[in-house]
Amino acid sequence: MSGPVYSVQRLRKVFGGRGWFGGGRVVTALDGIDLDIRSGVSLGIVGESGSGKSTLARILVALEDATDGEVRFRGQPVTPYTIRPREFYRSVQFVFQNSYAAFNPRRRLGAQLDEHLRYLTDLDVSARRDRIARCLEYAQLESGLLTRFPHSLSGGQIQRMAIARGLLSAPEAIVMDESVSALDVSVQARVLRLLRQLQRDLGFTLIFIAHDLAVIDYLCAEVVVMRVGRIVERGKTTEVLGNPKSDYTRELISSCLTV
Ligand SMILES: Nc1ncnc2c1ncn2[C@@H]1O[C@H](COP(=O)(O)OP(=O)(O)OP(=O)(O)O)[C@@H](O)[C@H]1O
Ligand SMILES: [Mg+2]
Repeated sequence: MSGPVYSVQRLRKVFGGRGWFGGGRVVTALDGIDLDIRSGVSLGIVGESGSGKSTLARILVALEDATDGEVRFRGQPVTPYTIRPREFYRSVQFVFQNSYAAFNPRRRLGAQLDEHLRYLTDLDVSARRDRIARCLEYAQLESGLLTRFPHSLSGGQIQRMAIARGLLSAPEAIVMDESVSALDVSVQARVLRLLRQLQRDLGFTLIFIAHDLAVIDYLCAEVVVMRVGRIVERGKTTEVLGNPKSDYTRELISSCLTV
């Protein structure tokens, strides 16, 4: 399908200031974001700490409500109160930084993957088994891991398990927030290679948040640069990184080169 999967308009998110006592610190995390996201694109979102990346990610996957403006997915408004979760999460999945926390520590991984698939689809037992096997292969994981508990996997394995789970319902879009940031460099490289290949082969829309520009450069065809809740620059990754229009982007690039 062509056309935007996501359409974000005048999105604002303000935290605080509406407590019982009316006071408190007010933070404008998103300050008027307009963004169309084309189907099948790999879009990176970068910006310094506190620029609103995670807030945007959480609103895109309906974990958080906006203060103002709107997000539409395939034309349907996205808010925690209006989505039909089963349909929405069949189409949109997310993988965040710490995937140990994204699984139940007391249940075997196979049971958790199966439960996820049963919730999102009407597939029967054998179709679910096939789908799980295929997604494990996508994530380059041994099927033996299905009988294990989450904490017995390495950081790279659990992150790939979260990716496998994210692929189960063949979603149209996957949102990732710092999904490889906590991994060792070599493990990170493997997960990134995998993701790039999967995104190309399966064609899902990838919205990938990272503070590391090299990661974005490797994985994402397009990039959005955020600063204090606003988009300062957007374009093809090679163009934005090769010929940045704003001083802020230039600073981000040079700070990444020095670490
Ligand atoms: N639940 C919350 N309550 C109050 N303030 C919040 C909340 N979540 C985020 N903020 C504030 O909103 C701003 C944007 O935060 P956000 O987590 O979206 O930034 P980020 O770009 O993801 O940063 P990082 O790169 O450090 O992950 C920050 O000032 C943050 O302190
Ligand atoms: Mg964040």
